[in-house]
Amino acid sequence: MLKTVNTIKEARSIINEWKNKGLTVGFVPTMGFLHEGHISLIKKAKEQNDKVVVSIFVNPMQFSPNEDLEKYPRDFEADTKICEKNNVDMIFYPSCEEMYPDGFCSFVDMTGPSKELCGKSRPIHFRGVCTVVNKLFNIVMPDRAYFGQKDAQQLSVIKRMVKDLNMPIEIVGCPIIRESDGLAKSSRNKYLSESERKAALILSQTVFMGQKAVENGERDAKTLCDIMKRNIETEPMAKIDYVEAVDFDTVQKIDTLKGTVLVAIAVYIGNTRLIDNFIYTV
Ligand code: PAJ
Repeated sequence: MLKTVNTIKEARSIINEWKNKGLTVGFVPTMGFLHEGHISLIKKAKEQNDKVVVSIFVNPMQFSPNEDLEKYPRDFEADTKICEKNNVDMIFYPSCEEMYPDGFCSFVDMTGPSKELCGKSRPIHFRGVCTVVNKLFNIVMPDRAYFGQKDAQQLSVIKRMVKDLNMPIEIVGCPIIRESDGLAKSSRNKYLSESERKAALILSQTVFMGQKAVENGERDAKTLCDIMKRNIETEPMAKIDYVEAVDFDTVQKIDTLKGTVLVAIAVYIGNTRLIDNFIYTV
């Protein structure tokens, strides 16, 4: 039976009962407006754990003042139906006051991986993500937590945080779920007009093209990123934020592809900033 819980106290009490019975807990943190990308994480969590908790919290701390916090899409009723259908045991749906009561002033900040790629155009983003994920981990105390490769830098940052701060949680990365035409599923796709939706295909096309080049032997990061940039520039509605090849674990720029590399892009289509990527082990 799905239970929706709004307070930390109630969430803890239910999860403690599960733990006392020796049951394992899988956790899927989200900002809601659930789609097949989120569902794939829920399914994986369900496979690997006795109980599954999904959190729905649009975390103000990870949005800059000029970003889309106010208009970020929300549909709690539809999310509840999706969770019910996928046998989620608990939705943790706290208010902002519950998560950030008056006087809140502690943060988890990270250097290195969180300062590159999206960290450059969204300077406070990963501080907000690390802080809220750390809080959610302390509330849910999961055995495993599930993150999508769609947000590959976030996945890498969370893995690092868990390692650095000795959190006893296994982080499970899950593949990118795409629309049938290739566009990576995202809550933000809702912002796209019909013509922008067509133009947005340039992201996945470029990612597939870059991946093919690497599979065919391209190992020079600059050459790879240049051909990907040129491809994006063929789309008049697209404006590049970044196209970069980095080491997946450290998120530091590389000259030559070796080990496990993350090739990531961020592109504005109109006012909507979209991301996509591929990970390749040489
Ligand atoms: P949100 O954007 O809702 O995403 C929740 C999780 O779903 C993330 O791990 C994300 O990578 C994954 N996801 C989204 N689209 C996906 C897709 N197309 N394929 C596979 N996985 C996908 O990421 C966040 O929320 C927040 O930053 C959060 C971690 C909840 C902290 O506030």
